[in-house]
Amino acid sequence: MKKFQLIIVVALIAIIFAGVIGAIVGARQSPEPLTGNWVVRTDNKDGTFRTTYLNLKQEGQKITGTIRVTQFFYRISESTPGDDGRIALTGSMMDGKNERKVQYEIKLNGNELQVWTRRRPQDPLTQLSAVRAPEGEGAMPARNPLPTLHKVADNGLARTPPMGWNSWNKFASRVDDPTVRSIADAMAANGMKEAGYLYINIDDTWEGGRDAQGNIQTNKKFPDMKALADYVHSKGLKLGIYSSPGPNTCAGYEGTYGHEEQDARTYADWGIDYLKYDWCGARNLYTDEEMQAVYQIMGDALRKTKRPIVYSLCQYGRQEVWKWGADVGGNLWRTTGDIRDAWDSMTRIGFNQNDLAPYAKPGHWNDPDMLEIGNGAMSETEYKTHMSLWAMLAAPLLAGNDLRSMSPEILSILTNREVIAVDQDKLGNQGKQVWKSGDQEIWSRPLSGSAQAVAFFNRAAEPAKVTVKWADIGIEGKRRLRELWLHQDVTWPGPEYSVTIPGHGVVMLRASR
Ligand code: GLA
Repeated sequence: MKKFQLIIVVALIAIIFAGVIGAIVGARQSPEPLTGNWVVRTDNKDGTFRTTYLNLKQEGQKITGTIRVTQFFYRISESTPGDDGRIALTGSMMDGKNERKVQYEIKLNGNELQVWTRRRPQDPLTQLSAVRAPEGEGAMPARNPLPTLHKVADNGLARTPPMGWNSWNKFASRVDDPTVRSIADAMAANGMKEAGYLYINIDDTWEGGRDAQGNIQTNKKFPDMKALADYVHSKGLKLGIYSSPGPNTCAGYEGTYGHEEQDARTYADWGIDYLKYDWCGARNLYTDEEMQAVYQIMGDALRKTKRPIVYSLCQYGRQEVWKWGADVGGNLWRTTGDIRDAWDSMTRIGFNQNDLAPYAKPGHWNDPDMLEIGNGAMSETEYKTHMSLWAMLAAPLLAGNDLRSMSPEILSILTNREVIAVDQDKLGNQGKQVWKSGDQEIWSRPLSGSAQAVAFFNRAAEPAKVTVKWADIGIEGKRRLRELWLHQDVTWPGPEYSVTIPGHGVVMLRASR
């Protein structure tokens, strides 16, 4: 072989070799372009970001991987190429016993991933932009082992249903330190405090990140939680806070996962008096069957602080929480999904609590969610029904409106002492339905001193006349009667009682010997 031929052969071999190596390295270095961890960051304007992670693996037109958005962690179950170069993704996850789905469309545009989604199915598509994130960022942490079950000692709090205010229904993510202070001012000055309202509860979105030692930080909306607690305490009121046993809260903020004792200690150091602990992101790590153990961890952690902190469980009434809520140290437990400021929502929740009556007792209450009174979408008559029904149910009375700007009528609904006395009756017996005919229902609640509260509800929009024999609703013999909304005594009418109830309204009586 001539020297010149040898050079060509060597050169060819080198080229082929380089090509093969190049292909291997290339395949490693520039995989299919959508593969990778992508993040959509939306500024919460409080020093935190709402993040959505799309961790994608592309094989040709097929995409697999995960989508993590606020409290939800989906596996991509379908990917469908569209005509315009977009790929439609469906994410799916099990949320308790139900499958939850989410839809995204994606398309690469230079270094960014264009993302289209809808918050709710009826919303228009929103376009977002994702950038590459380091591998592993936003991944679900590993599952921590769960403790065996035991009974957490009763903390001795909430002998009557907690009363106060919570930020979520009115302010959602707009709650901040000045708002909480001015709400405390209002409660201390407008008669609510004297009527029994005590807790000022900050709901979701106060959280910042964690410091190097893992201590939970507040975000910019709450510059100094201890100072805020001091302020609220100086008004003779107490301060509540919110978290989740999951890695993130329902609104996608930092949760308590893996920091239970540390967070409980922080709350105690700040001077917190009440914790609402919301399942949220925990659903991605634990099954519903494991909830009790998960809630027990925080029950133990709160007891360990030695500070009296009311423990409020929020897991939407799953797993028959009323049967074990007290065992994990819970003072109250949500029995349903979220309430809305709407007649349908309020009544669907309120009138559905009948079977849970046996589980309410001093220190441990069914919680049909916070009040919507004064938030504007129901009439005053309907809000009176809301207040009466919650009082009949021995429900926590957590106002959810703007206490700084409510009308005198709304204030008088919230501070009706005679109705509050029913709610706060020390026997702690939850009322039950004792009579029903079409849209009219009568509920009765045994009170201390052999008295009874009796509420005549009309769920129809038109006024309705109801006539009943006292004996048919559990009242034998003559009683003293008091109308709790008119603040008037009612003359004993004999064995039968007739009353006209306004549409969506209530007539609430106290019957005593
Ligand atoms: C859940 C709870 C609500 C509220 C929000 C906050 O939906 O049920 O009461 O705390 O989370 O994100």
